[in-house]
Amino acid sequence: MTGKTLIAPSLLSADFGRLTDEIRAIEAAGADIAHLDVMDGRFVPNITFGPAVVAAMKRSSALPLDVHLMIVEPEKHIDAFARAGASRISVHAEACPHLHRTLQQIAAHGVMPAVAINPATPLCMVEEVLSDVGMVLVMSVNPGFGGQKFIPGAMDKIRRLRAMADARGLSLDIEVDGGVNGGNARALAEAGANVLVAGSYVFGSSGYAEAIASLR
Ligand code: DX5
Ligand code: ZN
Repeated sequence: MTGKTLIAPSLLSADFGRLTDEIRAIEAAGADIAHLDVMDGRFVPNITFGPAVVAAMKRSSALPLDVHLMIVEPEKHIDAFARAGASRISVHAEACPHLHRTLQQIAAHGVMPAVAINPATPLCMVEEVLSDVGMVLVMSVNPGFGGQKFIPGAMDKIRRLRAMADARGLSLDIEVDGGVNGGNARALAEAGANVLVAGSYVFGSSGYAEAIASLR
């Protein structure tokens, strides 16, 4: 975990016809990481893109790529996303019967292993792997779509997760994803989140740099 809050715009709300321009634009606007949402139409209702698009993003910008896999059987695709240039890969606890093994598979590539949990999933689902991950992604909307409303219960979940990590002396990244905006970013950081994902708030704004600055 770094001392500062990392801002991770989600390309899900970018113009998909101009993705390489969009990632360069958020890089120029001061983003720390690019959040890439991979959806398979099975784990979530929506479908987005695969490793070829992640590789294109890697060629277009120097931003670290934070790949959020909302797919079933992620272990079948982790190697391809690692080769495409991911610097962090999140898998959903709900999609991984052998979560520890899947996290080790990610780490074997030198990529930061991360675990994501849906709003209805309790923290105990990640408790046994906390020292095996660099980051826990706390979903603050039900995954699948951008532009949804923040689910308030995520705030206390982040607080409890930060307390759990501190109690074990772990310097864990806690990422919050869904409905993050200029109005709740400060409270989320105070609760213990240090990686803030924002899709529609950044890409729906008239100025990416101002939107990113207002999240800090
Ligand atoms: C939702 C994705 C999010 C999404 C967030 O399933 O995981 O990353 O882009 O979008 P906003 O910030 O608009 O809620
Ligand atoms: Zn996401």
